[in-house]
Amino acid sequence: MIDEITYIPYEQTVFSATQTGINVSSPWLSLDVDVEDTRKAVIMQVLDRIASGAELISDGEIQEFLAFFAGYPVLHATPRVLAPGRTITYSSDAGELLRSDGPRQFLEVLNPFPDIDIADAFSYFPDTWEWDVDEIASESRIAAAEMLFDPISAYTAIRARRLQFQIEQSGIAHTLLRNIEALRERDEPRFFKILAILLSQQFYVTRECGSCLGPAIEHLPLISDQIRAYADEEIHHDRLILKSIRELTDQPEAEFAFTPEIRLEIEVIKYAAKTCALGFSALVSIMEGTVYPDSDPVGDILKKSSKPSAHIGVEAHFQINKRGNHTAIPETFVKKLPPVTERTVAIAARLAEVTIRLDSGLARTVLKHL
Ligand SMILES: [Fe+2]
Repeated sequence: MIDEITYIPYEQTVFSATQTGINVSSPWLSLDVDVEDTRKAVIMQVLDRIASGAELISDGEIQEFLAFFAGYPVLHATPRVLAPGRTITYSSDAGELLRSDGPRQFLEVLNPFPDIDIADAFSYFPDTWEWDVDEIASESRIAAAEMLFDPISAYTAIRARRLQFQIEQSGIAHTLLRNIEALRERDEPRFFKILAILLSQQFYVTRECGSCLGPAIEHLPLISDQIRAYADEEIHHDRLILKSIRELTDQPEAEFAFTPEIRLEIEVIKYAAKTCALGFSALVSIMEGTVYPDSDPVGDILKKSSKPSAHIGVEAHFQINKRGNHTAIPETFVKKLPPVTERTVAIAARLAEVTIRLDSGLARTVLKHL
């Protein structure tokens, strides 16, 4: 494939002029960018052309403008053109996933934990898959070759759906934060207990990180160098989370309560690590968050408690992710992939759909402890 990527804004993305420059916003992100006075007229023209539905892909100025935002989840990468010559394709297989009628059925197949009853723990999941895989495929189909798909386009198409899903579910996460904040004022000992449970979930993810990345390095050779570099960045992050937990409880690690959501989420990632480089990339992005506020929202609440130093570990971890823009790291994985098959697009989409449900479900389950 030729390397140059052209972008179009997600349908949820809006660019607008501000006093000092421009604002780009979507339901999950709002970003202000200052524009130098000498550039303002040109940029305003570009905004007008985008708003009037101009042909975005062939307009060099618009592409230059959009490329500035390529590091943020506000754009779809249109399928690239194939370079002439023989084309290598990447094809993954995941029978257990594709044979499942929905996320719950897939989890039934995957579940290694005798103490988790999937039907019971995930009764709030739909019976069938809900994302339109054909639509995701059509947004990533390489025009000249009907049955080849651009992995970067599939990645950005999947990203749009998972961000939309997260934003629709964000009410629960906000309720959780509000309730624990209220609990802090009402019953601080109980607040510390709940916070320890909440942080334990993050601890589980960081502790199990290696058991996901190890198999990925082994089974996904096309992206193993990139995953190795990423693994170096992630090492020992569980210690940071544990540092915070230890301020709140001296409960031994073996007694930490990990939710079915977080345990199955890790199992899905391990499965992806063995089956699909594209899907694995989409899942790493989910695990790394979406957009990063100035500081960790949970850390902020801890800071206001009578054990303010409990915020130090989680905040340090949060800042590592924010500084390194970790949610975008998997883009370096996807860029290494050749065109992919339609089945690979489907596998990646299904993996993302089940993972984002588990991810969003976590807040719901922790809320039940309150
Ligand atoms: Fe990270």
